[in-house]
Amino acid sequence: MDSYYRLLKNNAEWASSQVAEDPDYFHRLASHQHPEIMWIGCSDSRVPADRITGTEPGEIFVHRNISNMVLSTDLNLLSVLQFAVEILHVKHIIVCGHHNCGGIKAAMQDESYGLMDQWIWNIKDVYRMHRAEIESKQGEEEKRQLFTLLNVKEQVLNLAKTSIIQNAWNSGNYPHLHGWVYDVRDGVIHTVFEMPAGTEIDNIYKLNRKH
Ligand code: CO
Repeated sequence: MDSYYRLLKNNAEWASSQVAEDPDYFHRLASHQHPEIMWIGCSDSRVPADRITGTEPGEIFVHRNISNMVLSTDLNLLSVLQFAVEILHVKHIIVCGHHNCGGIKAAMQDESYGLMDQWIWNIKDVYRMHRAEIESKQGEEEKRQLFTLLNVKEQVLNLAKTSIIQNAWNSGNYPHLHGWVYDVRDGVIHTVFEMPAGTEIDNIYKLNRKH
């Protein structure tokens, strides 16, 4: 049986078991969503946001891309972010990286992958910013782990640079920003960086609307 067919079969079973358990389940979900969390994670199939956090449909608003990047030119990410912050009023945004990330590995090598080289160059920028600290680590594994962690931190900082987050912080107490790293070897999430709403950021990135 083709692997995709199993998905449809699973879906039919899941939908009917949900209704058997709670006849009103889909009625309730269909009318609106009110997630308190936005998740920015890696596209990696081993890091499914809801599965590893034990959350249900309706609880997290998700954006995923290679190596959980927050880039100012990514219309997709920015649109998801604006909707999450200004329409859904999420309270927390989590950037979750993970160990053994293909994007992180690719960024540490010189192999060309075609189009995606342009995406990976943004990950390489993070490496360059932290080169001395990363290269002070002994083994390749240690270097990669630190790079993964520093990349998450930089992506959280990138969130705080956006006018979307700064406007939200200027007018309210949300959202709080969190940087996490998921370990694919044992399934455990480690918290690595926090920016509570209103955290002071480097002056050069501060935005004040004067008109
Ligand atoms: Co990854």
